[in-house]
Amino acid sequence: MDKGKILEFVFRAVLLLAVYVSCIGGAFFLTSHVFTVAIENLSPVLIQIINSLLGLFGAILLFCLFQMKHVAQIKQAMAAITVALEKISQGDFTSRLHLGFRVNEGFEELIKNINKMALELNQMEKMRQDFISNVSHEIQSPLTSIRGFAQALHNDQLSVEDRLRFLNIIETESRRLSELSDNMLKLASLEAENSQITPVAYRLDKQIKNIILACEPQWTQKKIEMEGFLDQLEITADESLMSQVWINLIHNSIKFTFESGTVRVELQRQGENAVCRISDTGIGLTEEDRLHIFERFYKADKARERSQQGNGLGLSIVKKIIDMHHGHINVESSLGAGTTFTVTLPL
Ligand SMILES: Nc1ncnc2c1ncn2[C@@H]1O[C@H](COP(=O)(O)OP(=O)(O)OP(=O)(O)O)[C@@H](O)[C@H]1O
Ligand SMILES: [Mg+2]
Repeated sequence: MDKGKILEFVFRAVLLLAVYVSCIGGAFFLTSHVFTVAIENLSPVLIQIINSLLGLFGAILLFCLFQMKHVAQIKQAMAAITVALEKISQGDFTSRLHLGFRVNEGFEELIKNINKMALELNQMEKMRQDFISNVSHEIQSPLTSIRGFAQALHNDQLSVEDRLRFLNIIETESRRLSELSDNMLKLASLEAENSQITPVAYRLDKQIKNIILACEPQWTQKKIEMEGFLDQLEITADESLMSQVWINLIHNSIKFTFESGTVRVELQRQGENAVCRISDTGIGLTEEDRLHIFERFYKADKARERSQQGNGLGLSIVKKIIDMHHGHINVESSLGAGTTFTVTLPL
């Protein structure tokens, strides 16, 4: 038993004794007059016994009254809890339960937990609605342009260049739709409760180098100078998931860097960690955007060119994979000057 419980027990015992003594006192006060006026020659011992019994009776009566009030309060609390749970089961997560009286510690804990559950369900519901509206928006906008440009292609007067431009847009937008479904599936499978990583030992520098080389068409097209400083490092991690991380980060650096800019990828060992820094001289981020970029569907520059559009899912996938590896990702950026993502992974 802890100190608090012992103190509470002593307090209750003293209270009970005090009530009992007060009842006996009360009985003495009430009966003293009756005994002197109505019944004379009663032995003091008998008076004592009668008063004690009356006191005991009074204490039991008080106790019963108190219990009845307590039982009524428990019933009232149970009814309020049932109503609150019914509301929650019907999807109303906004109301909060407040009794206005104290029943006991157990009930208080129960009410606190019901309110916490309602709050969390409310947040989940909001996330679900946001998710649905984001997905609908991400599906709707490419579909609208596909439909619009496909209709425009019916026009026989179109020049060959316009026709090709429209077809390119249709192609880009359909690719975007397909990437959206891929990324959503990826996120869903990563977020599934039983989702696990399959760690193997492999050379991290080779993996990053191969990804940089695979992106060559993108960075040469934008005349971006790509610099790689990769120390030889072996890591134990999920190879295929980690390649997603580097692909997303390097693609972003290329995508958000102007022509003739620079992207630099560095890999070093720091103590028991592998640290990979991907920096670019691109558009950069505001402080506000920097705080949100790992959220699903978040895009910093909403008025971006169509060719640069993504779905805002890449970095949430990156963050999830790094968390699953007990690593850390940090972003430093200044608007117009460039961005640096630093990934730290335990070796
Ligand atoms: N290197 C970067 N420089 C500047 N802004 C960046 C950089 N990387 C990411 N961002 C900002 O963060 C946002 C979220 O990035 P994320 O990779 O999640 O989405 P996306 O690239 O827009 O789309 P997706 O990756 O799903 O194709 C981007 O829209 C962009 O505004
Ligand atoms: Mg991206």
